[in-house]
Amino acid sequence: MQKTLLITGGTGYIGSHAIVAFEQAGYRTVIIDNLSNSSTDTLLGIEQILGYTPDFFEGDIRDREFLISIFERYQFDAVVHFAGLKAVGESCDEPLLYHENNVGGSMTLFAVMEDYGVRKIIFSSSATVYDPIHAPEYREGQSLAATNPYGTTKLVIEYLLRDLATQKDWSVMALRYFNPIGAHPSGHIGEVPRGIPNNLLPYILDVAVGKRKQVHVYGDDYETPDGTGVRDYIDVCDLVDAHLLAYEKIEMGYEAINIGTGKGTSVLEMIRYVEEASGKHIPYGICPRRAGDIGMFYCDPTLAHTRLAWSAHTPISESVANGWRFIQTQQ
Ligand code: NAD
Ligand code: WQD
Repeated sequence: MQKTLLITGGTGYIGSHAIVAFEQAGYRTVIIDNLSNSSTDTLLGIEQILGYTPDFFEGDIRDREFLISIFERYQFDAVVHFAGLKAVGESCDEPLLYHENNVGGSMTLFAVMEDYGVRKIIFSSSATVYDPIHAPEYREGQSLAATNPYGTTKLVIEYLLRDLATQKDWSVMALRYFNPIGAHPSGHIGEVPRGIPNNLLPYILDVAVGKRKQVHVYGDDYETPDGTGVRDYIDVCDLVDAHLLAYEKIEMGYEAINIGTGKGTSVLEMIRYVEEASGKHIPYGICPRRAGDIGMFYCDPTLAHTRLAWSAHTPISESVANGWRFIQTQQ
């Protein structure tokens, strides 16, 4: 029988790519999203790729009655939980909002899952849960420590899920994403930041399309090959493939797995990738370091290779070209 999965945050950037991947792999997905950081335009993009739109319900994971109405209607085999707020700076201004939305919303969702006997979950965690003392290379066994309220919410949810696995026999895969980039090769879905992009690639792409004047490079005096910040950029389609494998291999208990390439790329290298993909010159200026940033981190992806038989394969040039294709459709 075809398995049905609930995808929270499914009209968002990563969730929308996951829907396409799960549907194309033969699963049925049901999308819920409160549209706080996305729009129903994403559903049009999904429809252009799939030829149909999976069931979508606008609603909030903090709304227990809304969740019950969905769980009454479908028999879910698992939940893939993307819904959450993700802007680090905003989380420092609004810690209560972040805890209420991300932690409170997850608690409500987990309580309804428990009530309906749905005890299988893939959770969007983040590299931000690692204690930065372990930089540059983060491994799953290292100690965790949040450095901002957004990170704290991811940590709290990981701990909560670990308790549910231990005490209530849940099957949990917490996937710790490094820096997701790119878009679906069709150009129909991608990242649509609201306002000024917080993340590097969306900002550079905005400069490439002429929406912003220049890239602000936050520091060129880090201990990295060219002095600018180095991150492990992971293609969004590769990233969602890891969810598919995680779902197919999930077992009772709690597992946290890094999802990244294991390779670092600097800010200046990313600017060059966008110049190549777009054929545009990207002006940039060196600015002071951004508060809270660290110079370099990337993942040790060994566990993803061995446990999930997953590895990243899309070259950054291709991810950037896909991002460039998508952003041009948004102008
Ligand atoms: P996104 O903002 O594009 O998607 C999240 C979606 O969740 C949005 O569509 C938003 O409207 C929805 N949402 C938020 N709060 C909700 C609520 N209370 N009820 C229902 N829907 C709600 O973000 P994304 O980049 O697709 O990230 C997906 C997940 O991955 C998030 O949990 C994020 O923290 C995590 N993550 C993202 C990154 C990244 O750099 N993009 C890195 C690591 C982890
Ligand atoms: C990448 C590099 C910046 C913007 C954030 C969150 C993290 C995770 C992913 C969710 C850094 C530099 C950036 C700009 C720049 N999200 N930069 N100019 O900081 O690794 O991680 O997103 O879990 O939690 O903190 O990603 O894209 O913001 O920055 O020079 O305009 O680009 O200093 O070196 P980051 P980023």
